[in-house]
Amino acid sequence: MKKILVRPDDSVFVLTGAGISAESGLPAFRASDGLWAGYRVEDVCTPDAWRRDPAGVWAFYAARRDAGQKALPNPAHTALAELEAQLPGRFFLCTQNVDDLHERAGSVNLLHMHGELAKSRCERECGRPPVEDRTVYRALDDVPRCPCGGRLRPHIVFFGEIPLEMDRIQDEIAKAKLMLVVGTSGSVYPAASFVHWARQRGERTVYIGPEEPLNASAFTHVLEGKAGELLPGLIHVENMSSN
Ligand code: APR
Repeated sequence: MKKILVRPDDSVFVLTGAGISAESGLPAFRASDGLWAGYRVEDVCTPDAWRRDPAGVWAFYAARRDAGQKALPNPAHTALAELEAQLPGRFFLCTQNVDDLHERAGSVNLLHMHGELAKSRCERECGRPPVEDRTVYRALDDVPRCPCGGRLRPHIVFFGEIPLEMDRIQDEIAKAKLMLVVGTSGSVYPAASFVHWARQRGERTVYIGPEEPLNASAFTHVLEGKAGELLPGLIHVENMSSN
C-alpha cells in the first residue's frame, strides 16, 4: 500500500464518522433498512421528538451510552492518536461521532461536532455548560433536573440543530495541508461540505472507507477498505532532513 506523505511542518485535519467505530462493534447509522439501530431518526433525534417523547429519546440514547461504554477503540482510532503524537500542534480531529473512542485511544486535539454521549445538558439552554453524565437511565423519572428546573437532555446535536464550534472547524480547515476523512457516508451537512472547502484551497483530500461516499468526486484519493486495516501505517511524517 502506498503511503501518504506529510511534511513535518504541515497541518492535518481529520474528519471521522460512524464507520471508524464500526470495527469496535458500534453500528453505523444508515443501515440498508433506512433505520438507525431499528429506530426512525425522526422519532429519536429531532427537537420535535424531544418535545413529544423525551422518554423515548432518552431510551434510545441510554442504549447508545450503554453500547458505547462497552466498546473499545480499534486500530483506526489508535492510528490517529499516534499520528497526532507525531504532529504536535498541527493535528486536528473533528468527529461526527458521539462515542468517546477517540479520546480513549489517546486523541487530544479533538472536537465532537455532533455532541457527546457521555454528557447531558439543560433542555432550556439556560447557559449552564454540559455536564459529564454516563448514567444509563432506565426511566425518565431517573433523569435529574438542571438547577434551573429544566430537564436534562442528551448533549447531542439533533437533526435541525446547528453543529458545535463551526468557526473553530473552519479555522482548522483553513490551516490544513491534508484533509483525511474516514468512515462517513457524505450525506449529512455541513460535515459533507468540509472536503469541498479544502479542495477550494487546492489541498489534498483523502477518503478511507469500504465504499465511496456520496461526495467521492471531491476527494483527490479514495482508498477503499476498512479503516482499521488501512489507517495503521498509512501516513508517513517526513523528517526535516528528508525535505
Ligand atoms: N471503516 C471505514 N468506514 C466504514 C467501515 C469501516 N470499517 N464500515 C462502514 N464504513 C462506512 C460506510 O461505508 C459508510 O459510508 O462508514 C460510513 C457510515 O456512514 P453513516 O452511517 O451515514 O454515518 P455518518 O456519515 O457518520 O453519519 C453522519 O449523521 O446520522 C447522523 O449525526 C449522525 O454523526 C452522524 C451523521
